[in-house]
Amino acid sequence: MTSPQAKPLVEISDLHLSYTMQRATIQASRGASLTIAPGEAVGLVGESGSGKSTLARALLGLNDPKSTRIDSGSIFVDGTDVTRFGERDWRVLRGSSLSMVFQDPLSFLNPVMRIDRQIVEAIPKSMRAEGVSERVDDLLRLVKLPQAARRSYPHELSGGMRQRVLLAMALASKPKLLVADEPTTALDVTTQAEIMDLLGELRQRLGMAMLLISHDLGLVSKACERIYVMYAGRTVEWGPGSSILKTPAHPYTKGLFDSARALRLPNGLFATIGGDVPNLAHKIEGCPFRMRCPLAMPKCTTMSPATQVLGQDGHWVRCWAAQDSGIAPAQGNDVKNA
Ligand SMILES: Nc1ncnc2c1ncn2[C@@H]1O[C@H](COP(=O)(O)OP(=O)(O)OP(=O)(O)O)[C@@H](O)[C@H]1O
Ligand SMILES: [Mg+2]
Repeated sequence: MTSPQAKPLVEISDLHLSYTMQRATIQASRGASLTIAPGEAVGLVGESGSGKSTLARALLGLNDPKSTRIDSGSIFVDGTDVTRFGERDWRVLRGSSLSMVFQDPLSFLNPVMRIDRQIVEAIPKSMRAEGVSERVDDLLRLVKLPQAARRSYPHELSGGMRQRVLLAMALASKPKLLVADEPTTALDVTTQAEIMDLLGELRQRLGMAMLLISHDLGLVSKACERIYVMYAGRTVEWGPGSSILKTPAHPYTKGLFDSARALRLPNGLFATIGGDVPNLAHKIEGCPFRMRCPLAMPKCTTMSPATQVLGQDGHWVRCWAAQDSGIAPAQGNDVKNA
C-alpha cells in the first residue's frame, strides 16, 4: 500500500527534548528518529518511561511549552518544519493533518455534554457547511456506534463505546495521520480486539497513516507495517514488522519479545528484562542499555552505538554487539554515528 520511496508524511530526526522542572531536567528524548509514509501504519514500542508518549506529544504539539524544550533535532510534518510552531499553528495542523486517541477516553470527553455535541465540536468549522447532522451520523456509522449513542452522555457508554466516540472525534477532521497512544490498554481483551479491528478497517478505508503506541509488541506487530523500538528516549531498532519479529537484533528488542511470550527459563521463572530503565534526569555515557545487557562489552560503556543497517529491507539497529557478532554488515555508508 505504501511505497518506500513515498515522501514521508512525518520525519522526526534525532530529536532531543527535555522537561525542565524546578529541581531537575528530564531528558526524555535522547536521539529519537522516526518516519511515517502516507497511509503507513507504524508501531512504537518500549517499556514504561522510554519516551513514547513524549515523542507522540512532540509530534502533535501537545507538550506544555512552558516546561518543554526541544534541544536539537527536527520534526517535519508533510514537508513543513514544525519544531518551532506556536499554539495557533499547532491548532491548524491538528484540525487538518493530525489527530489522536489516547488510553483514557473519559478524561478527554466532557461529562456534561451529549455525544453528538462533542462530535460536532470536533468537526472543523471549514467542514461544517457539509451538513453537520449528517456528518455526525456518518462518523457514528464509521466507528460502528448506534445512532442511539448520539443523545448519550459519556458515563452512559461502555469503555469500548467511549473509545469509539473519541475515534469519531479524531476522524472528524479527515486527518492524514492518527496517533493512537495505548488506545486499548484500559479495555478488556474482547473489546481491545474489536477496537484494533476497527482501527485497521478505518485505516484501509480512509487511506490514513497511523502511529500506534503500545507496550505490547504482539499487538503492534499485528497492526503495523513497520515497528520502532524505543529505549531511554532513543529509537534503538526499527524496520519492517516481519523482519523485527523474525530477526530482532537489539538485545533489548529480544528481551521485549521474551517477556511478551512469557518465555519460561530453564530455572522455571518467566523471562523479564532485569534491572530498571535508567533515570532520564542523569547524563548517560555510552549505550543506555548496557547495564541490563547480556552482551555488553567495554566499548558500550564509553561509546554511543552507531546506527547500522541490517540487510536490504530497511531494518536498522543501534547496538555494538549486533555489529561485533556479525549480525550487522558494517557497510561504510550505512554506519552513522548516533
Ligand atoms: N510532563 C512531564 N514533565 C516531566 N517529566 C515527564 C513529563 N512527561 C513525561 N515525563 C518523564 O519523561 C520520561 C518519558 O515518559 P513518557 O511518558 O514519554 O514514557 P512512555 O514511554 O510513554 O511511558 P508509558 O509506557 O508509561 O506511557 C519519564 O521519565 C517520565 O517520567
Ligand atoms: Mg505513554
